[in-house]
Amino acid sequence: MDRIRIRGGNKLNGTIHISGAKNAALPLMIASLLTDETLTLRNVPRLADVNLLLRILRNHGADMSMDGKRAGCSVMQGETVHLTAGEIVDTVAPYELVAKMRASFWVLGPLVARCHQARVSLPGGCAIGTRPVDLYLMALEKLGAKISLDGGYVVAEAPSGLIGDRIVFPKVSVGATHTTLMAAALAKGETVIENAAREPEVADVAQCLVKMGAKIAGIGSSTMTVQGVERLHGARHDVLPDRIETGTYAITAAMTGGDVTLAGARPELLDALNEVMRQAGAEVAASKDGMRVQRNGGLLHPISVETQPYPGFATDLQAQLMALMTKADGVSTIRETIFENRFMHVQELARLGADITLHGDTAHVRGVDRLVGAQVMATDLRASVSLVIAGLAAEGDTVLNRVYHLDRGFETLEEKLKACGADIERLSD
Ligand code: EPZ
Repeated sequence: MDRIRIRGGNKLNGTIHISGAKNAALPLMIASLLTDETLTLRNVPRLADVNLLLRILRNHGADMSMDGKRAGCSVMQGETVHLTAGEIVDTVAPYELVAKMRASFWVLGPLVARCHQARVSLPGGCAIGTRPVDLYLMALEKLGAKISLDGGYVVAEAPSGLIGDRIVFPKVSVGATHTTLMAAALAKGETVIENAAREPEVADVAQCLVKMGAKIAGIGSSTMTVQGVERLHGARHDVLPDRIETGTYAITAAMTGGDVTLAGARPELLDALNEVMRQAGAEVAASKDGMRVQRNGGLLHPISVETQPYPGFATDLQAQLMALMTKADGVSTIRETIFENRFMHVQELARLGADITLHGDTAHVRGVDRLVGAQVMATDLRASVSLVIAGLAAEGDTVLNRVYHLDRGFETLEEKLKACGADIERLSD
């Protein structure tokens, strides 16, 4: 199993090209199930999760072709994927595939909308909390699907098709919003989604659905209105840049010090992080090709933050921010409000010398003068990269085990960091 070795101490200087967003690419690929025509997605990141979802979509009957690297493009500029679900040959999404990645559960919406039936295994995914699916099922029932549970599978049936309704989510859910939006696009009549997730990835998917012929108003707001159409058609769409990858490298540059340009980034999608970074003592600014982060000497200041749905501070950046605060000059407070078990990185950061105490959903991080390299273990995607950030600021060698978590969500991480001066390498046994 691959490991990553990091020797800390180098400042980062240079340019990192931001990839297409994993959390937009996955639902965009799933949207291909809504039409028998071709959906072409550009800037799809090369990630293990994307490959797994391609397997799942092929299982439903989608044909896939991929354009390789284009002339003049760097390897960082993802791939173009053409997906054609001419005919859905199987409406079952089996346990073996769905258990590995929670987002694959989202095929439920398009399958029941287009085929009027679906049988999808209850999901797996990163171990960051219980992650129920009640909101998805509530929404599909509201749209007229009959839902039952059978042997670990959700069975959804709507023999005469889905019918629009008013859906009020009691809690913001990204996945339930994606699923409902896709289902409502092909339902009869009007669907109003209230308390919808406002994450930029949801807006990106909605914009792609509009290109496919869907009628959606209120994109980017917490109330979206969908007028169902009989069929959707093919489209071409560019996946938006990954704001979590952007934020991760911004935090990394703040941790090591240096001057890094995040090419292709959209800083306006990271207002909450950028505010916190400035409070911590980093310089963050929009630049002509994306975003620039600098920190040259000076102490890191402690911060107080709680995770919130967008536009609040993203739970997907909580572990990385915690790594940064391990070196701050004082005590930071980080409260996790989205997932109840998203502190798996705490004990691993402690192996590097971090001083963190947990009180329920809140971590108190007392900054230390030095971190010292150690063997650590990746537990989930964002926890893994927080250990890379800490390792880059630790003395000596840090070896990260279970690297497959990182490969799910960060495209060519070692190459990108190495190009900016990090001493990092992958060890393959
Ligand atoms: C998406 O997960 C992201 N995944 C997650 O990123 C991200 O952390 C999360 O949104 C929050 O921003 C993808 O986009 C592929 P939710 P999702 O439904 O949709 C509760 C990463 O590292 N909830 O918005 O699964 C749930 O338990 C991943 O890239 C219910 O109670 O998250 C949580 O407390 C990890 N019932 C809250 O809502 C439901 O039916 C928000 O979860 C559904 C969710």
